[in-house]
Amino acid sequence: ATDARARARAAQSLDELEAILKDFESCPLRFTAKNLVFADGNPAARVMFVGEAPGADEDRIGKPFMGRSGQLLDRMMKAVGLERETAYVANIVPWRPPGNRNPTPQEVSVCKPFIERQIELVDPDLIVCLGSPSTQTLTGTKDGILKARGRFFPYRLPSREVRALATLHPAYLLRQPVQKRLAWRDFRLLRAALDGKA
Ligand code: URA
Repeated sequence: ATDARARARAAQSLDELEAILKDFESCPLRFTAKNLVFADGNPAARVMFVGEAPGADEDRIGKPFMGRSGQLLDRMMKAVGLERETAYVANIVPWRPPGNRNPTPQEVSVCKPFIERQIELVDPDLIVCLGSPSTQTLTGTKDGILKARGRFFPYRLPSREVRALATLHPAYLLRQPVQKRLAWRDFRLLRAALDGKA
């Protein structure tokens, strides 16, 4: 993990960070994944969405949120005036866990310095944590997502503090569509925050 931290810190740009991750061999997931799934969207965007880990579609294409979860995420973003060109999208783990199992705590912790550095280099005004692993990893809360969602957590960037909004993961919403109303509330909070009204 110290190795990961030193390497992540050495990256002075997102391109450098991506290149460093391509050479990073201390996360076992990289040996079973087809592709590194680094990011999609606009690195100059004000808002950065952070999911959990790539699935089969993302692994094949090499970009996050390309499958059904991604299509739902795109619809939700669109409903609040966002699209891939006006947002930046990444995951806490950049390689697909075999068979879509959840990443283990060890896999999450070895990759954590890289997503932290990625967030620093994007320098967003607002972070949106999609689901429990992203929320717990980035905010340090132990609360489950149904308790944490709709809350803004402080997030320390090198030069300033921004906010991280916790919300439900689109994959969960596909399984539990009745919960979409909670996610809509969160996305309205997101819109208000971007408009300086929350
Ligand atoms: N789920 C995630 O958390 N991330 C992806 O990129 C795709 C599905």
